[in-house]
Amino acid sequence: MADGSIDLVQQVRSHLESLRAAGVLFVPRGEALVHAPLRVVAKQADVAPVVAPEQEDPLETRQRELEVLRAEVAACDKCSELFATRLQTVFGTGPLDAEVAFVGEAPGSGEDAQGEPFVGKSGHLLRRIIAACQLPASREYLFNIIKCRPPKNRPTTTTECANCRDFFRRQFDLVKPKYVVALGLTASKLLTQKGGALSGLRGQVHEYRGVPLVCTHHPNDIENDETGQLKRETWDDMKLLLRTMGREVPK
Ligand code: URA
Repeated sequence: MADGSIDLVQQVRSHLESLRAAGVLFVPRGEALVHAPLRVVAKQADVAPVVAPEQEDPLETRQRELEVLRAEVAACDKCSELFATRLQTVFGTGPLDAEVAFVGEAPGSGEDAQGEPFVGKSGHLLRRIIAACQLPASREYLFNIIKCRPPKNRPTTTTECANCRDFFRRQFDLVKPKYVVALGLTASKLLTQKGGALSGLRGQVHEYRGVPLVCTHHPNDIENDETGQLKRETWDDMKLLLRTMGREVPK
């Protein structure tokens, strides 16, 4: 054989042909092999070639695993009501190794329509908060506790949050943010694993999966508060976040 890679193609072809002759009509795609280019690491006239995947950049592996997770989420039908009423799932947006992950509760109607978190009014306010902190928007990751819009934007149920918990954890572990901010009571209670009011969770640095966590108000609640108090308290929380990050607090 003049070329080990041609020999390999022939071996694969004859293996597939023998499977087909035996009645096997479908072979699952091995994702790891589809994406990892093959490399012949030994080639001698009388030795069968040994094939190993190229070393892959760990960041690319994580990005690929995140896309696999996104597809799993898109196919999820655990919450029958949400499955029946959603236009699409809303996974999350932002880079791996994000500086800060901002965690909301659930997508609203704009998010459901666009498939992106925080695209509506509350997203606009969240981006203003991020800008006021002088955090680069491109370095933040935005996502929610659950991935489907609850009908008529009703609050999430305990079962819905529990159904999505494993997706959330896997997503968090793949994104590996350096800091995390829980927006509102639902996200704060779930990430801290503590009960009580939001006032009891704000003003201190918690941890979620080993990552420093700050709890603050949800942008929707800030929007609806005419007194301005929630806005001031959110700024206090952001100052705590920035100090924890070792960043200067803008005047
Ligand atoms: N509210 C949330 O909690 N998340 C969104 O994505 C939008 C609004």
